[in-house]
Amino acid sequence: MRKLIAGNWKMNGTAADLGELRTLAQQHPDPSVDIVICGPATLLSRMAETGLMIGGEDCHPAASGAHTGDISAPMLADAGASHVITGHSERRSDHGEDDALIAAKTQAAWAADLHVILCIGESEAQYRAGKTLDVLRRQLDHSVPDGATAATTTIAYEPIWAIGTGLTPTPQEIADVHSALRAHLTARFGEDGAQMRLLYGGSVKASNAADIFALDHVDGALVGGASLKAADFSPIITALE
Ligand code: G3P
Repeated sequence: MRKLIAGNWKMNGTAADLGELRTLAQQHPDPSVDIVICGPATLLSRMAETGLMIGGEDCHPAASGAHTGDISAPMLADAGASHVITGHSERRSDHGEDDALIAAKTQAAWAADLHVILCIGESEAQYRAGKTLDVLRRQLDHSVPDGATAATTTIAYEPIWAIGTGLTPTPQEIADVHSALRAHLTARFGEDGAQMRLLYGGSVKASNAADIFALDHVDGALVGGASLKAADFSPIITALE
């Protein structure tokens, strides 16, 4: 699998920001890694016009129906998306999403031929209590559906306490977690688990990207704040290439 760098714009961005993506596309015309920008639904079709790969930030488990304000996986695909994030900690906390719902959303995304970037991560309290691996293994077991393959699914490890805080685990901690995730996925999914991409997310920036990307079983990153501006995101992409 090619390495993957994904930006997550979260609830940011209007038409005025599309120039950032046009700049990014010009800076990386023939990338050796997969570059995906996950953006707000209002911008997806215009984001897709840049030629970059585009993803949704969430999808509903149903393909259509009476769900005011929601967006389905087929609708994302229709807007030009090839990817979608499921299970982001902000969806888990802001909208009470549990592992079963995330698994259902993931299956809906696969049915629409979207590649899923499925997020897992421990809270600060769980980290301090030494429960990180227990939490992550439980999230993997219950939110990643049977049948996941390396072609359809990427796992993003995002410690909640590292998101938007400027804090990150130490390189050794990231390496230990990713190695444990790899072992767990391989035990369950065999060769697909061995090949499935593992992204790190949480305060990735140009100054720490190279150190993180040098670690075993880190196959890219999911980047929030530093993906909003081409000047910030481009050096991170270059560090992965
Ligand atoms: O999904 C990416 C994200 O949660 C990390 O955000 O701003 O810490 O890079 P940030």
